[in-house]
Order: sequence, then C-alpha cells, then structure tokens
Amino acid sequence: MSTYEDAYKKLAGCGQTHLLKFYDELSSEKKAALCDQIMATDFSVVDALSHEAENTARGELRPLKTMQIPEIDERREEFFECGMEAVRAGKTAAVLLAGGMGTRLGSPDPKGMYDVGISRRVYIFERLVTNLLAVTRKAKQWIHLLIMTSDKNDEKTRDFFKKNDFFGYNPAYVQFFVQDMAPTVGFDGKVLLESKDRISTSPNGNGGWFSSMVRCGLIDYLKEDGVEWLNVFGVDNVLQSICDPVFIGATILSGCASGSKVVRKTSPDEKVGVMCLEDGKTAVVEYSEMTDEMRNAKDDDGNYQFYYGVILNNLFRVDALEKVMDEKMTYHIARKKINCIDGNGDKVEPEEVNGCKFELFIFDLLRDIPGCLPFEVVRENEFAPVKNKTGADSVESARRLLLMNGVKL
Ligand code: UTP
Repeated sequence: MSTYEDAYKKLAGCGQTHLLKFYDELSSEKKAALCDQIMATDFSVVDALSHEAENTARGELRPLKTMQIPEIDERREEFFECGMEAVRAGKTAAVLLAGGMGTRLGSPDPKGMYDVGISRRVYIFERLVTNLLAVTRKAKQWIHLLIMTSDKNDEKTRDFFKKNDFFGYNPAYVQFFVQDMAPTVGFDGKVLLESKDRISTSPNGNGGWFSSMVRCGLIDYLKEDGVEWLNVFGVDNVLQSICDPVFIGATILSGCASGSKVVRKTSPDEKVGVMCLEDGKTAVVEYSEMTDEMRNAKDDDGNYQFYYGVILNNLFRVDALEKVMDEKMTYHIARKKINCIDGNGDKVEPEEVNGCKFELFIFDLLRDIPGCLPFEVVRENEFAPVKNKTGADSVESARRLLLMNGVKL
C-alpha cells in the first residue's frame, strides 16, 4: 500500500501536488486508494504538452503504393491458400480494440453493446464475432480473440459476452485485457481530479494495445501457442472481415511485416487518414494535415497519389512489434470537454472544451516496422463504421450497408 509521503514526493517531482488538496477530507480507505492511483499513474505523458509542436511537425510525405483490387483479384486464390494455411496452423490471432469511449455515439454502454438491429437484436459485438466465425468454420480451427477494454468499460464488456454465450464463439479462445489509462489535464498542464479521491483519467488511445498485451503476459501466451500474426481491428466497423485469409496471404507473400486494409476515397475531400511514406517510413497522414496540392496530386497515369484511406484493420507480425517496443511512442493531444472538480471541490460539467487527453495512435506503430502492405478492399462490402447516431458513419448508414450485404436486421 502506498503512503501519503510516497505520493507527495512523486507529485512534487512533477508539479502536481494539488492532487492531494482534499486528502484530509477523505476516509482512510479513499486516502489509500488515491495514493495507490497516484503511484500507479505515469505523469510523464503530460510532457507531451510542451513538445506538441515538434511532435506534430511532419517530415517529407510521399505516396505509398497500394495493392489494388484488380491485382488482388488476379492472385486471390494464391493469397487465400497462403493465408488459410497460416490460419489453420494457428499462426494468426484477432485483437479487438474496444477500449474507446464512443463519445460520439453517446451510448452509456460500451460501443460493442449497441444494437444495430431493426426488427431483431443485432449487437455490434455479435456482428464482429459472426464475421470471425465465418473464417474459423472454413478453417476448422479456432482463432484466439483478444478483446481490449478500458477501466471504464471492462466489467460491462465481459458480462455482456458471458450473458450472450460469447455469441457462439469458443470461450476458451477469448481473453480480455485492460488497456492503460492516461491522466487528463487542464490547459495549464495541471492534472484534473474526477472527484476528491480520484485523478481524472482516460484510455490512452488505440496505440497502446501491444504494450498493454505484453504487460499482462498475453503476448508470451500467444507465442507459446504458435501465434505469429495479429489482426488488429476497431469495434465500430460492423462489416469488416477479420483474419481474412486473402489479406493475410497477400501480406505474408509481400514480405512486409505488416498490412493495412484501405479503401479508395470517394473524393479528394473525403476526411479520412491516408497511407503514405514519411521520411521513407510508413505513416498515415490525416486529412487536416494535407495541403490542397497533396489532396489533388496525381501520377503520370492520372491517378490520385494520396487516395487510400485507412479503416483500422491491420495485420502485424509479432516479432516485428516486439522489436519496436523499445521505441518510445509519441502521445497525441486531444482537446476535449472533461468532467472534473474545480479547486473548491465543486463538480464541473463543461459546455466548452476545457482540457486535454493523451492518446497513442495505432498507426504510429507502423513507422518502425519493416514494410507495410496497403491492401485495398471493396468499400461497400467491408466498411460500415458506426461513429455517430445519425448522418455520416452512423447507425443509419451502417444499417443500410448491412442490408445491402444481405445481413438480416
Ligand atoms: P475512435 O477514435 O473512433 O474513438 O476509436 P472512440 O472512443 O471509439 O469514439 P469517440 O471518438 O469517443 O466517439 C477507434 C477504435 O479505437 C478504439 C475504439 O474502441 C475503436 O475501436 N480505442 C480508441 C481504444 O480501444 N482505446 C482508446 O483509448 C481509444
């Protein structure tokens, strides 16, 4: 158990002693819990605030060649055989990133518990498991499914899977792990308190999954079971295919240590991150970081050069990930409305952005991995993200796409 003295010393070293302001008012149990939380928190992430300009400066951006649908169609059988062999040999595992807050969807439950059905219940988690089951049935081989949650949604997620009998999946092949959290700060760089006895924290972004898996021993466990590749995917794309043998085979045969499913943009102005090379290394450049000139740049054949958007479905070779673990990842800063308490201990539910969250991005992992294959998929068949309730990338648009693909809702 950590003591007040330990906690004070740690906070004094990083200018955050205000977090103990209400300490004397707390019960002994809460005092201990607050000290434990302080000792377990990595306050160095806050340094990202003073390095924001240098961290966000981009290097030289160049196009990265995508493997496009005609080439994939031509070699589909060859890719399928190679990928299926890896799946049958138990060399692939699936990692579902479900630690996000799903703020835009605005549901109090984890996003995967959202029901996208119309006349029957169709939960997002169920859709994803059904898609993975399509591969395990073909392969006659179970695939490890690792589900990343956060402190905020772990219990509900686990209960939901249990209550629904894992949607037909083999529970022996499902493992949950909790991602790391990062403290949140006000614009003055002071860490916020959620209540008098708790620091305000938020999940540390979708890039922290591998280090979180290493920390809890899951990577060793998977390696011992022969897993060599991880297919990592987000919770919100209800149409995505998981551990797709064609994608796995294409990546293996390309010799790259990672692959990234991408879709052709609908226009130069579509607001998605696109794959490219930055100073010769694989990167994703956000729409907002691209100049008009880049968005409209064409090659000699008249094809747009920065035109393949990422959909958060990536394949990584485990040994390559282990090698880049020593590289320190950069925290990105997201300015958000953050509920907290003020200096008087009164609750604040801000109407305007009042602070910053710190997030690691999954695509930053690609930078130091030897090679990434951008692999085009048919957008209407594989990309139906649920980000919002209505409008673009919403429950409504995802339902339309599911129905178009013959899914009963
Ligand atoms: P988003 O960037 O869409 O964030 O996550 P979100 O939290 O789900 O939604 P908003 O922005 O609050 O509305 C993309 C994917 O990354 C996962 C999400 O669960 C989703 O699958 N993610 C995001 C994590 O697992 N952890 C995080 O800390 C952030």
